[in-house]
Amino acid sequence: MKTSNIRSSFLQFFKDKGHEIVAPSSLVPENDDSLLFTNSGMVQFKNIFIGKEQRGYSRASTCQKSVRAGGKHNDLDQVGHTARHHTFFEMLGNFSFGDYFKESAILYAWECLTKVFEISKDRLCVTVYHDDEEAVRLWKSIAGFSDDRIIRISTSDNFWSMGDTGPCGPCTEIFYDHGEHISGGKPGETDADGDRFVELWNLVFMQFEQVSKDKRVSLPKPSIDTGMGIERIAAVLQGVHDNFDIDIFSSLIARLFEISGKDRLDIYKVPSRIVVDHLRSAAFLIADGVFPSNEGRGYVLRRIMRRAIKNARSMTDDRQLFQKLMPTLVDNMGGFYKELVQAQPLIGSIFSQEYDSFCKVFENGMPVLQRIISDLLPGQALSGADAFRLYDTYGMPIDVINDELSYRGILLDERSFNELMDDQRRRSREGALMCASVSPECQAYASLSQRIPATVFTGYNEIGGAAAIKAIIVGGEEKNEVISGQSAAIVVDATPFYAESGGQASDKGYMKSRSGASFASIYEVIKVNGLFIHKVIVSDGAFRMGDSVDLNIDAARRKKIMANHSATHLMQAALRSVLGEHVMQKGSYVSDDRIRFDFSHGIQMTAEEIAHVERIVNDSIRQNTSVVTEVMSYSDASDSGAMALFGEKYGDVVRVVSIGMCENFVTPFSMELCGGTHVKRTGEIGVFKITGESSCMSGVRRIDAITGEAAFKLFQDIYSKVRTIASVAKISMSEIDSLPQKLEALIDENKILRKEAIRMGASDCALSSVVSESIGSAQFWHSSLSNHEVKSLKSVVDNMKRKIGSGVVMVSNIEAQDASDGSVDAKHKVTVIVGVTDDLVDRLSAVKLLSSAIGKVGGEKCGGRDDIAQGGGHNHFGIEALISSVRESIKSSF
Ligand code: ALA
Repeated sequence: MKTSNIRSSFLQFFKDKGHEIVAPSSLVPENDDSLLFTNSGMVQFKNIFIGKEQRGYSRASTCQKSVRAGGKHNDLDQVGHTARHHTFFEMLGNFSFGDYFKESAILYAWECLTKVFEISKDRLCVTVYHDDEEAVRLWKSIAGFSDDRIIRISTSDNFWSMGDTGPCGPCTEIFYDHGEHISGGKPGETDADGDRFVELWNLVFMQFEQVSKDKRVSLPKPSIDTGMGIERIAAVLQGVHDNFDIDIFSSLIARLFEISGKDRLDIYKVPSRIVVDHLRSAAFLIADGVFPSNEGRGYVLRRIMRRAIKNARSMTDDRQLFQKLMPTLVDNMGGFYKELVQAQPLIGSIFSQEYDSFCKVFENGMPVLQRIISDLLPGQALSGADAFRLYDTYGMPIDVINDELSYRGILLDERSFNELMDDQRRRSREGALMCASVSPECQAYASLSQRIPATVFTGYNEIGGAAAIKAIIVGGEEKNEVISGQSAAIVVDATPFYAESGGQASDKGYMKSRSGASFASIYEVIKVNGLFIHKVIVSDGAFRMGDSVDLNIDAARRKKIMANHSATHLMQAALRSVLGEHVMQKGSYVSDDRIRFDFSHGIQMTAEEIAHVERIVNDSIRQNTSVVTEVMSYSDASDSGAMALFGEKYGDVVRVVSIGMCENFVTPFSMELCGGTHVKRTGEIGVFKITGESSCMSGVRRIDAITGEAAFKLFQDIYSKVRTIASVAKISMSEIDSLPQKLEALIDENKILRKEAIRMGASDCALSSVVSESIGSAQFWHSSLSNHEVKSLKSVVDNMKRKIGSGVVMVSNIEAQDASDGSVDAKHKVTVIVGVTDDLVDRLSAVKLLSSAIGKVGGEKCGGRDDIAQGGGHNHFGIEALISSVRESIKSSF
């Protein structure tokens, strides 16, 4: 029996027994921070068990994706080393919420195993909680078991709880005996951990709620929660004893060996199992909106991915390995879990990024670890502090450190490592608690939502309407009245005001009494458990409980919000078609004046890609097709290919918004699950323009965009600026294409002119401060400058030579330089250039003249020819002495 058939037979069996088949919930538990991941089928029903929530059914059955890595139920370290542990697995379960209890639970499980799956009774035995006589009696009567098949266990193994808090109760577990050829004892025996007797199905008699560490209360009604790992039952029904030999895993493992080119199943048994197991958890977590990061769920995902990558590297250095494995995983599981199909490109791209960053961590951290290890004395353990530093600073996962240590037979001082980890966790928990303190207003809204029915939202079709006031909150307290000058939060029975959600800003507007005498402006609306809370400021009269009022939204503002929201859907579809299907929304905010949209994409978009997305969206706008909204079941929506948000929890009934048309004029261009408000036809968006594209966080880009009037204003504004620039550049708008070349030419010309001006400036200064002397029949002109560009000095000398006609010229320049040692005295750089006119070079050499004098300014050498020479030093007080020295040399030659 293929795993997919096992899944459907199980669900069908319980459907026939009157159970509602409920879709699996996200791996990220909704509104439940007590749990890292959904770790079993009952998690989505927790509030029903404890009496906080009611649904239209009292029996349910699911196939629930679950992750046990981190937290109370953590199987990470066992994976790969046993035949039956996984970080990700599917749990088949049936649930009774105060409906049937022990007897039916045992009866159904027995019928399902022995009739539907035709498992022989001889292969089965059970455990019960040690004092649960009723369970013992039922097993005897229903299964006909004798005492030796009913094992009493007194430990927590037979008392199941979801986490440190939550529903819990004693349980009975059904075990399958894989046969004598496999080692391992019965439950309760010392060698029970072997793989011979495997727990197949756990039936929990939910009777209590663990409220805190020391407080346990009874549940309102005794209930049933059961769970059977699909991988284990598949192993039994496929005649293998090892879960990794079932259809889902064997095809993945075969593909892994094919890609890596390895054939030694014995050597690569553990790494190959770790790779395929961890691939499944990582893929499903990413599909549910978890991204690798350094904290919380993201950190556990990162650990899983890095462990997978490390093991993969022992088999192959193909960095595309995980992308190549994905199609096999999708073939196996995408039929039931549509989110996996949708997220496939995203999973691939996140694996690539994580692969690269892990390789860096590995390459940086491993040498440090090896250095520390080589300094250890024989028998010495790695200290907790060193391990923590490797983890915290170099990002090395502790299991990677442990692997390396165990390979070398070295121990880790786990106690001190764990203490340091606990300290870190405590610090971050304290930080989180500080952020999560709940305001009195929020407490008041939450308590109202327990008593008042959910507000009816009329705003998909109406912009105004009548309503009755159901609650008034002033300063965090419920009141009967709010009067002029006060702010308040008001709840009504029905409202056209959209409350901020799904990234769409709330409406603004006003509320007035029927008589028109009382008036309040509404500046924000939020939604708490289905109640719409209108934040108001009363400017006239008063509002009382039960008053009939008229509500009106600012319709012009709402129109802009709708245009922006519909454009956001078109943009997301366009991004996926231009950049690829890995593009997924990671956050968005749509208000009347802007769109902000964050999406998964690893690199900066090019200008062409941005222009392409804009073109597609604007084409769709001009098509002016009507926007269709339909309400349908979640599974129909998902079958029709509507995009859902990763990690978002949807109800059974969803709203699907279709916008634009593909070229075939049949398929909508964009189809998304969305509760927001939208235009009726795309033409109402007017025009769409991206105004910014930037990095938001690793692997996520952010687009800013505008539509309609704002975009039109931007075009007008830019056009008028361009016209001004053109007129300054003295070209007409018809020649605007040549503007860049014209500007470039102007900039180049400006550079040349600037250089010339510098040179001329230096020349002018030199000439205006020149001292001319006659030495015998020779002329000697010298000029002392300061802070001129050294580059310009040579042309200054040439200029002076031209002017003097025949003679010797010399220019010196002093530049102040900051003292590099921080002392008060600035250092000076002196540059000297000497020129000798051509007619005199037989009698006087510029380089010789300067060489003999340069020592006066602290210089040692100079270079050049007979007609021109340059030298320098640092003693600016020596300039006069330098001039004298040159003068003397000239004198002696004439
Ligand atoms: N919630 C129970 C388990 O996970 C059925 O074993």
